[in-house]
Amino acid sequence: MAFQQTILVTGGAGFIGSHLVRLLVNEYPEYHIVNLDKLTYAGNLENLKDIEDNPNYTFIKGDITDEEHIQQLFAEYRFDGVIHLAAESHVDRSIANPMSFIETNIVGTVVLLNAARHHWEDYTGKRFYHISTDEVYGSLGETGYFTEETPYDPRSPYSASKASSDHLVRAYYHTYGLPVVISNCSNNYGPYQFPEKLIPLVINNIRHNKPLPVYGDGLYTRDWLWVEDHASAIALIYHKGRIGQTYNIGGNNEWKNIGLVQQLCDIMDQLLGRKAGTSRGLITFVRDRPGHDRRYAIDASKIKRELGWEPTIQAAEGLRRTAEWYLENTEWLERVTSGAYQQYYQEQYGEA
Ligand code: NAD
Ligand code: TYD
Repeated sequence: MAFQQTILVTGGAGFIGSHLVRLLVNEYPEYHIVNLDKLTYAGNLENLKDIEDNPNYTFIKGDITDEEHIQQLFAEYRFDGVIHLAAESHVDRSIANPMSFIETNIVGTVVLLNAARHHWEDYTGKRFYHISTDEVYGSLGETGYFTEETPYDPRSPYSASKASSDHLVRAYYHTYGLPVVISNCSNNYGPYQFPEKLIPLVINNIRHNKPLPVYGDGLYTRDWLWVEDHASAIALIYHKGRIGQTYNIGGNNEWKNIGLVQQLCDIMDQLLGRKAGTSRGLITFVRDRPGHDRRYAIDASKIKRELGWEPTIQAAEGLRRTAEWYLENTEWLERVTSGAYQQYYQEQYGEA
């Protein structure tokens, strides 16, 4: 079958990538979706079991920093578009070991930009879409929101590496005219998130009656977005976003960490049939993250105004659905938390 277009999705076996790949494969049978992923600890083909045999889907194991492989794939598949999600994504790991963040997030992005630049003789109809984070904007005080005009002020090795890749993507637009688009999104949550991130870590620890580590005073604020709402925003921006533009994506759903953890405790007590208040007893304040950003909040009015996108799932429903998914998928949880996860947990939290 001749496909209308072939899209390279990088990092499609990760948390957000797997939701996006599923959406594209199911909703766009006329597209060929090629998922390139290195399958690091965060990438898992189990996340895509339900679509792996679809005729419009191809998985390729590969590393975006492998220039020869990437050039060869561009020559072979003649991609019409790239949606670039592959990254090292966890702030705490970037503090412990920044180098892999520099390699994948910065060098890997440039390898992809170069391949697009060299293989796309004519930019008509082509699109290089870079997925980024609101963490590039730094930290807010008690009030205010990040807009697309907020100056970059990254504080962690992770956010600095993402900021750097955003700048390089824009540089390829201005210097070479590469047709790029960028979006910066707030914290995602939902099924298939690796349990190093706050929400699945707390859910998993409640299951095991383990302490729930809350960094510092717990009054740090994040805006949380249901992951499928992010995936639908990405599909929309890929098709309708204006070339050279940036779109902020957010959930309009701010929580202080301690409030979010308490909410999860209450949901889990209900789902597990435990006495109300049981899980809150597991909350443990631990040493703060170095350079911890106080507050993130997104002004998502541009994507709403230009593309009509808004989040559809509110926190009460999203958190419950997330907790239910992890309880229904304990085998997935057990598999991803065996082996190397134990060592990571030990190094990050000690015996906690
Ligand atoms: P994730 O860590 O769950 O998944 C990352 C994926 O990239 C994994 O499948 C991994 O195997 C793959 N990968 C890593 N290094 C690679 C390499 N060198 N070559 C090929 N594949 C590689 O991350 P996520 O949470 O799904 O985030 C996806 C993207 O969205 C990232 O670019 C991240 O910066 C961005 N983002 C994430 C959030 C969030 O809340 N999770 C918010 C905003 C933006
Ligand atoms: P995280 O899920 O790592 O996302 P990010 O750092 O990209 O925002 O963390 C969300 C918030 O929760 C952040 O303020 C750090 C905090 N946090 C804890 O308090 N305890 C934990 O064990 C983790 C992983 C995070």
